[in-house]
Amino acid sequence: MSDEASALRDEVSLIRDVITYAHRFRGAVFVFRISSRVARHPRFPALVQDLALLHENGIGIAIVPSPGAKIDELLSLYAVATERVQGIRIATSEAMPLIQMAAFDTATAIMNQLARNKVEALIGNWVRARALGVREGIDYGDTGTIERIHADLIRRALEDGVVPILPCIGWNAVGKPYSISSLELATRLSVSLKAKKLFIVAEGEPFASEELQGPREGVEAAEGYISRISATAAEALITDWPQLLEPVELEFLQQAVAACRGGVERVHFLDGTLDGVILKEVFSSLGHAVMVHADPFENLRAMTSDDIPEVLRIMEPMIAAGVLVSRTQEDLERLCTDFVVYESDGTVRGCAALHRYGSDQAEIAGVAVDEGFGQLGIGQKLVRYLIGEASRLGLVRVFILTTQTADWFESLGFLRSSPEDLPEEKRRHYDERRKSRIYVFPLPPKA
Ligand SMILES: CC(C)(COP(=O)(O)OP(=O)(O)OC[C@H]1O[C@@H](n2cnc3c(N)ncnc32)[C@H](O)[C@@H]1OP(=O)(O)O)[C@@H](O)C(=O)NCCC(=O)NCCS
Repeated sequence: MSDEASALRDEVSLIRDVITYAHRFRGAVFVFRISSRVARHPRFPALVQDLALLHENGIGIAIVPSPGAKIDELLSLYAVATERVQGIRIATSEAMPLIQMAAFDTATAIMNQLARNKVEALIGNWVRARALGVREGIDYGDTGTIERIHADLIRRALEDGVVPILPCIGWNAVGKPYSISSLELATRLSVSLKAKKLFIVAEGEPFASEELQGPREGVEAAEGYISRISATAAEALITDWPQLLEPVELEFLQQAVAACRGGVERVHFLDGTLDGVILKEVFSSLGHAVMVHADPFENLRAMTSDDIPEVLRIMEPMIAAGVLVSRTQEDLERLCTDFVVYESDGTVRGCAALHRYGSDQAEIAGVAVDEGFGQLGIGQKLVRYLIGEASRLGLVRVFILTTQTADWFESLGFLRSSPEDLPEEKRRHYDERRKSRIYVFPLPPKA
């Protein structure tokens, strides 16, 4: 292929990426924690321009300024010394006004830049905090911990197309301000807003040390840098290899794991002084950031006979409503190895089975999600997981039979088919009275 043709192909593939991602993220919420160093970097206006583009494209943006460097500057200017204990700065009564000043100064710098891009923003007191108090003989003064975030108010601002900015200050019930960690605030905010992504935007990249790059399960490296790491692998790194991590990296990973466990899909650490870094990360596969991602299938496991009563309990109302084919304890015991279950907090909340037919086909059946846990993506995870399993087994297609859930399977990419296309054995048992519709999911040939 000529250079020109290959450049054109790359451009087209980039455009495809952008359109796909733009569609996927419309209506989603992204939380950005932006450091004060980035906020006064010459490239900051360009970064905010990119945030404005995301905003215009229907992505809800919430910002947590991280004023660390600004606080240090003010403390040194006014010759106020503070101590840190295990990474936590102790906000003395002398330091607190300066911390508050730095927090709002950084928030205002971000707000001003948004205004230049015609993006409306609000700085709010949406965080309820309380004093950390005295711990192990150490008085933490005006340093606080987050009690509650008024997510409903923040969500309303987002719905009105306004960018909420949350300085790292929280107030107690009578309005006393406390200094809180901006990293913890960004994590808690992303979980309570059900954000898809959390971005930690700082100067320079974390996780660049060579020792960290050794091959490990769940860690992908590119050009000698960690590029993607699963939340489980990040947890293992924290527990087994803390000596390889700088204190700030350890804190970053802990919060990233907490965000992923709380439902955030991805946490990106990026260098906010690089041109276009956020757009590349969001709209293409060319991202440069380090990313911690939630393990999509971590709550899934094979069903055991101990799970059967729970599974029957979930299926019962669906069987009664005629949505699912009736199954007994004995049926489930016989087909136990075909089933997977979705478990949350030690309780089964969903199940699905993959029944093999011959060497190249399988049926996905018995998909059921506990009524109180619907609409959380559990059904999708179960079906996607089984499609992946079928693909790993080298099958050419999976099919389903359904009477009332056709739309849902279509939304997952299944295509309408007919009883004639069923494997011989299944066709013989096709219940003409039930008149189930047949859908298939063709699997790509194995590379
Ligand atoms: C169908 C079922 C498995 C979906 O599970 P779930 O965990 O609630 O679904 P997810 O969270 O993955 O998907 C939710 C999406 O599917 C849609 N959806 C859920 N049930 C649907 C149905 N019966 N028909 C069409 N769409 C449906 C929701 O509106 C939601 O759409 P949105 O993402 O645009 O808001 C669950 O509702 C269930 O157990 N139903 C009864 C049993 C059944 O029908 N099984 C399939 C026959 S084998």
